[in-house]
Amino acid sequence: MKEFKGKVAVITGAANGIGFAIAKECARREIKIVIADIDAKDLKRAEEQLKADGAEVLAVEMDVMKFEDMEMLAKIALERFKHIDLLFNNAGVVIAGPAWLLSLNDWEWVMRANVGGIVHGEKVFIPIMLKQDTDCHIVNTSSVAGLLHLNGMSAYHTSKFAAVGLSESTYLDLQCETDKIKMSVFCPGFIQTDLDNCERHRPDIYKNDMSQSYYQSDLYKEEEQKKHKVIKGGMPIDTIGATIFKAIEEEKFYILTHAELNPLIGLRVKNMFEGGSPSMDVIKGVK
Ligand SMILES: NC(=O)c1ccc[n+]([C@@H]2O[C@H](COP(=O)([O-])OP(=O)(O)OC[C@H]3O[C@@H](n4cnc5c(N)ncnc54)[C@H](O)[C@@H]3O)[C@@H](O)[C@H]2O)c1
Repeated sequence: MKEFKGKVAVITGAANGIGFAIAKECARREIKIVIADIDAKDLKRAEEQLKADGAEVLAVEMDVMKFEDMEMLAKIALERFKHIDLLFNNAGVVIAGPAWLLSLNDWEWVMRANVGGIVHGEKVFIPIMLKQDTDCHIVNTSSVAGLLHLNGMSAYHTSKFAAVGLSESTYLDLQCETDKIKMSVFCPGFIQTDLDNCERHRPDIYKNDMSQSYYQSDLYKEEEQKKHKVIKGGMPIDTIGATIFKAIEEEKFYILTHAELNPLIGLRVKNMFEGGSPSMDVIKGVK
């Protein structure tokens, strides 16, 4: 897709961070924007900012973990704008900790938000796009954590590796079906956002019993501090919207942001070919 003026974009997790950066780039390109988010207050603020910039915006409070919310989002978006040309399955959360210490609530929350959210987006919007039979583009947000590994991030890695696999297989399935719907997977390294404060978006059904030993441990506190440090010390967000749209224009599937991490992705693959194991060199390279 090269012409954007007048197109319609749906963005989940659009009230903050990367989703909001995509929305701002949409506004700059005169795209009509449907911003969707679980956080009503932040959503209102994002809507006001985008409108102040002159954008045509529809704000929808919803939870990507709920399929019926995704259906409601599509219905409202179509009623208002009649067609959908761009879909950004972007909402996500992060939690840190080894697989065996995280609670089942942690696992369910991160998998339902980071993988379930994309599944719901694809299931609802791809049939709409196929029926439209117009040029469309879908961007799923995964992470470089879907292409290489750190310790202490088991649930996040699981969800983000799944998001890459889901995007790759959807890309191939779409190729067998149509040449109109293009697809990308966004795999950024650390970006300065509020992702490290995502606990505020954890639904009550997935709340942890914080008196459990892991959540009282030094390890938990260290992992939390590490999370704040790496995200707040990440790349400034200013160029992210433009980077994603350049990739859409060039029909690039993999969108990476931190060139210095590319050799580490290669190292992981090399280890596989050579019958090796996950390497601490990859971890040292990221930190
Ligand atoms: N910031 C980074 O370093 C980084 C790196 C790689 C990948 N990512 C990914 O980028 C995406 C966006 O994260 P961000 O860094 O902008 O974080 P952020 O917390 O600043 O923004 C995420 C937005 O998603 C919303 N959200 C959370 N759960 C939701 C749900 N169930 N339904 C609807 N909305 C929900 C939040 O309210 C928030 O507005 C995530 O998928 C994240 O995993 C971020």
